[in-house]
Amino acid sequence: MKSLSVKELLATEPKSQKVVTNGWVKTFRSNRFIALNDGSTINNIQCVVDFENFDEQLLKQVNTGAALKITGILIESQGRGQSVEIQVKELFVHGGADPEVYPIQPKKHSMEFLREQAHLRVRTNTFSAIMRVRSALSFAIHQYFQQNGFYYFHAPIVTGSDAEGAGEMFRVTTLDPKNPPLNENGEINYKEDFFGKETNLTVSGQLEAEAYAMALGKVYTFGPTFRAENSNTTRHLAEFWMIEPEVAFNDLDDNMDLAEDFIKNVIKYILKNCDDDLRFLEKRLLDEEKTKPQAERSEMPLIDKLKFVADNTFKRITYTEAIDILRNCKPNKKKKFKYRIDEWGADLQSEHERFLVEKHFKCPVILYDYPAKIKAFYMRLNEDGNTVRAMDILFPGIGEIVGGSQREERLDVLKSKMEALGIPEEELWWYLDLRKFGTAVHSGFGLGFERLVLFATGMGNIRDVIPFPRTPQNADF
Ligand code: 4AD
Ligand code: MG
Repeated sequence: MKSLSVKELLATEPKSQKVVTNGWVKTFRSNRFIALNDGSTINNIQCVVDFENFDEQLLKQVNTGAALKITGILIESQGRGQSVEIQVKELFVHGGADPEVYPIQPKKHSMEFLREQAHLRVRTNTFSAIMRVRSALSFAIHQYFQQNGFYYFHAPIVTGSDAEGAGEMFRVTTLDPKNPPLNENGEINYKEDFFGKETNLTVSGQLEAEAYAMALGKVYTFGPTFRAENSNTTRHLAEFWMIEPEVAFNDLDDNMDLAEDFIKNVIKYILKNCDDDLRFLEKRLLDEEKTKPQAERSEMPLIDKLKFVADNTFKRITYTEAIDILRNCKPNKKKKFKYRIDEWGADLQSEHERFLVEKHFKCPVILYDYPAKIKAFYMRLNEDGNTVRAMDILFPGIGEIVGGSQREERLDVLKSKMEALGIPEEELWWYLDLRKFGTAVHSGFGLGFERLVLFATGMGNIRDVIPFPRTPQNADF
């Protein structure tokens, strides 16, 4: 007989029919009620055991975490809070979970403890809900682009270029670290390395995506990216997933429109398709917030916050306008910011971004036209010669969630920019070719996938929205 998932069973009309299901025990109460879950939904199915009919030794193995196969009769539930339950006729224990040693017992565990049990934490309600939402968001992202004429483009993971020019890369090498070959200057001779040159894990697929946009028109990447920045924050990972659309003939306004429409769309998708998980996560967040001082609590429950973002227009202001607001705001004057904003040209820190979004505008904000000095080399220079056609999208509770720009399509301007920054032309000859042959206005952006999942689930730490987080000093599992 075909085994049904818990989700399927909960949606089945009970007619005392025989059913088979498999799953893991959440709880076993009074030697009678098994709450069984198989990951298909946040909800459990109640399985009722007449213990007189079962071997005592067998029932002893029915502990939290044990894997079971249950055969029984599906009936209308006698208890409250569920529509159906299974009267158990046969019970098979695939594998037990000794309560003396199994770490995921039915009680509250700290997030820190669960991070040390990353292989098991997905068995908790919180993590299973997060990971289902993460999966749904991935699907929604592909769906959005596929339905809008974009091609999925696979950027290389190993690259020879530093797309962001920030030097935060992980080296890829097969040279013997104890005895590397040296050149005549006594430096490591990368000509003898696997690729015959220095290579790294990619920090962004953008440069390669640009090449493809200049032929396929609209492309997007969705893949892992790596940054060796030593940022031990709740917003940074060393390995994270990024979505990078790149569109030929789009200018910065088109780019902002695309980003806003895209984000609203994927959020609407989960509002429609992840209701149970979102309601669970909303309740989790409310419970957690009760333990915090009033001032730190978020003003809206999770689902309202998601609806708010999906339904409201993002505020768009220039960097220059933002600096004026920040310079004159209370926390700046009262020296409440860690980094005071005095002058035009200052790089915005997360505290400033969050002030703009959470306190000043109280909605997502798109900042654009940043000083050229604080942005990457490939961004298009404005007529003023000082600012570039960059845009960042800032979200409540997160800060920067998207970074993007219109790209510099003029060969001479790009070349002089690279020269000023000391980026050798030989390294990016192919990127310059794109400006020599059929160049055109084009734009794109990068959305940090985990930051989107953070926002969507209401979690507080980016380590808790990726299955196996990689951060400084941590690559377990
Ligand atoms: O702003 P970033 O550095 O932009 C780029 O990489 C561009 N090449 C994108 C493009 O135009 N195609 O990164 C984009 C986004 C950030 O806004 C942030 O959401 C996320 O990637 N991000 C990180 N997420 C987690 N951990 C990190 N260490 C991150 N660094 C960036
Ligand atoms: Mg950025």
